[in-house]
Amino acid sequence: MPISLATLETIVRTAGAVAMGYFNDIENLAVNKKAARDLVTDADVAVEHHLKQALAEHCPSYGFWGEESGQTDDQTSRWIVDPIDGTHSFSKGQYFWAVSVALEIDGELVMGAVYAPALDDYYCAEKGQGAWKNGKRIHVSGETCLAASMVSTGFACLRQYLEDNNLERFCRIAQATTGQRRMGSAALDLCTVADGQVDAFWEQELNLYDVAGGALVVMEAGGTMTDFNGRPGVFPKQILATNGGLLAQILPLM
Ligand code: IPD
Ligand code: CA
Ligand code: CA
Repeated sequence: MPISLATLETIVRTAGAVAMGYFNDIENLAVNKKAARDLVTDADVAVEHHLKQALAEHCPSYGFWGEESGQTDDQTSRWIVDPIDGTHSFSKGQYFWAVSVALEIDGELVMGAVYAPALDDYYCAEKGQGAWKNGKRIHVSGETCLAASMVSTGFACLRQYLEDNNLERFCRIAQATTGQRRMGSAALDLCTVADGQVDAFWEQELNLYDVAGGALVVMEAGGTMTDFNGRPGVFPKQILATNGGLLAQILPLM
């Protein structure tokens, strides 16, 4: 790898500290709208700026794709960054939001880091090497009974324009499961599947920067990443993460 997991952790934790500087002064946070229900704050921009500079210092030839600043030309080896995933939660002073960073080489996710600074939970993964939370190995849950399971989902901010707004799917799955959550950060939602807090998570109409880091954490923790038809891979417009044991039972309800 061009960079070690330890170095990546230092960079991502420092980015988290930048975010916490704004979070701890939330009364003075400027919240702007990119679209009707799509928020951006000074913190999003500052964290992305920090990550872009710090990652370029270590890997100067790599491309960068961040939610706030867009894509550079090099797409072969690139960092994929969501500086704050869960901006709405962040702007309300809630704790469930995360800095998400992934490294993609030749179209394959090879490193992922998702840091929730307000919870001080740091998740990471390296392709073929496994996944960790706060330095300890993590694994998806062993739940195999859908009726006993805990699932979570999210609703895209542009849902009012969507024919499929996820509400019917949510009702179907809610009736078939024991616990349902809507936590508000797709990156971190994926990590809760990876460490067994939640047995499955789905969402639609996301972007690669929302899910790249968390998806590798799920796969390296033994989970499945598919679309709603069960096609393996990371498909941000239709993302389903499971512990594997529930995949066959949940797919017909998607
Ligand atoms: C959002 C979060 C949220 C999801 C939205 C995303 P953002 O990302 O991941 O959980 O439901 O669809 O847009 O805007 O906070 O980076
Ligand atoms: Ca996001
Ligand atoms: Ca974001």
